[in-house]
Amino acid sequence: MTATGWTERYAERTRYERDPAIWEILQLTQKPNMISFAGGIPAAEFFPTERIREATERVLADGLATKALQYGPTEGYDPLRQLIAEQMHSMGVPCTIDNILITSGSQQSLDLLGKVLIDPGDGVIVEDPTYLGMLDAWRVYGAAYCVIEADEYGTDPYSLQHALASAPAKLIYLVPNFNNPTGVTTTEARRAEIVRMARQHGVCIIEDDPYGKLRYEGDDLPPLMALDAELAGPNGSDPLGHSNVIYLSTFSKTLCPGFRIGWIVASAELIRYLTDLKLNADLHTSTFAQLVVYEVAKDGFLQEHITYLRQQYRERRDLMLALIEEMFPPNVTWNRPEGGLFLWVKLPENVDAGRLLRHAADDHGVAYVPGRPFYPHGGVHNTLRLNFSYASPEKIEEGVKRLAEVVRHACEPV
Ligand SMILES: Cc1ncc(COP(=O)(O)O)c(C=O)c1O
Repeated sequence: MTATGWTERYAERTRYERDPAIWEILQLTQKPNMISFAGGIPAAEFFPTERIREATERVLADGLATKALQYGPTEGYDPLRQLIAEQMHSMGVPCTIDNILITSGSQQSLDLLGKVLIDPGDGVIVEDPTYLGMLDAWRVYGAAYCVIEADEYGTDPYSLQHALASAPAKLIYLVPNFNNPTGVTTTEARRAEIVRMARQHGVCIIEDDPYGKLRYEGDDLPPLMALDAELAGPNGSDPLGHSNVIYLSTFSKTLCPGFRIGWIVASAELIRYLTDLKLNADLHTSTFAQLVVYEVAKDGFLQEHITYLRQQYRERRDLMLALIEEMFPPNVTWNRPEGGLFLWVKLPENVDAGRLLRHAADDHGVAYVPGRPFYPHGGVHNTLRLNFSYASPEKIEEGVKRLAEVVRHACEPV
């Protein structure tokens, strides 16, 4: 038999050009003694391990074991869907459990939505920069990215209006709360305008909200889905029957990512369609994980835990900001996010953050994510993302000190 290479066997849709930089970064951050501000990951020391242990014991003891260890319904475990429906209600989104599909994390939600909504060449409006995991997931389905601007007040409605008027688009992807990578939040006035425009042009919005609960200052803002529901009004038995927004969230940042549990909120019709497609992908999300998450989250524990995380992460954010303020040179700028996990830093235009990372990691033992892969069409080299949730306060102190040395040296005026 003749041995053959794999390359020519790969399906056309998977042959888009990948950025090897990401894998190189992940390798770098694994090195011993590295202080990493690279990952978008929660602090392991805040995982509610004791509560999870008790919940797991209950799930295995209380006559729930047969359910937890058996195949389950594709749409998810009803008590968990009910708990999520109540949470969505408290955020102003009218919904029932028929509007909720449990997924294996928001990353699966994105993949399913790409599969269901995107044909090759379909226009997808995204911010520049935006979440890399979405860009890669939808490239497989042939998304043609059309970029719009954002500033410190979030998505720019003028830029969106221009994009909507210039070329046909299938959908708009936004992270209105504490965006990944920029940490920026879209103001309430802009949210209202964006929702109105999208509706007017008949282009749906995918609202990705993994970070909304992690707010450290200011007031919670209504989700785009809640504002859209006000415009849509009720529709018979489906409170989201006329919704133009699809909302995603996850327990990854508020409990822990290892469970791999997220959810999609949408019209009941779309949820049924997505459920069929999810059946093909993985039958259902782990029943065991869903039951444990429900037992952990119920009776107000999730809210209590979120209050605790807000306090802990606020301290880390403030510490990182204070150190940067003290140590970074004046020709570098950064933002002050009101929540989430990231700061966004701009170096002078002649400094390449990707090249600098190699030096920072190899010679100084500190890592971050260069901004370039977050721009759908590339081109920007002088930005970087810093995560402040993962490293301990001691590591943040030492890491920013190391990073500041690298940055000061690279950013000396020529
Ligand atoms: C904007 C955004 N969407 C989706 C995800 C994926 O989350 P999950 O762990 O639920 O798959 C992330 C993870 O960092 C994210 O930042």
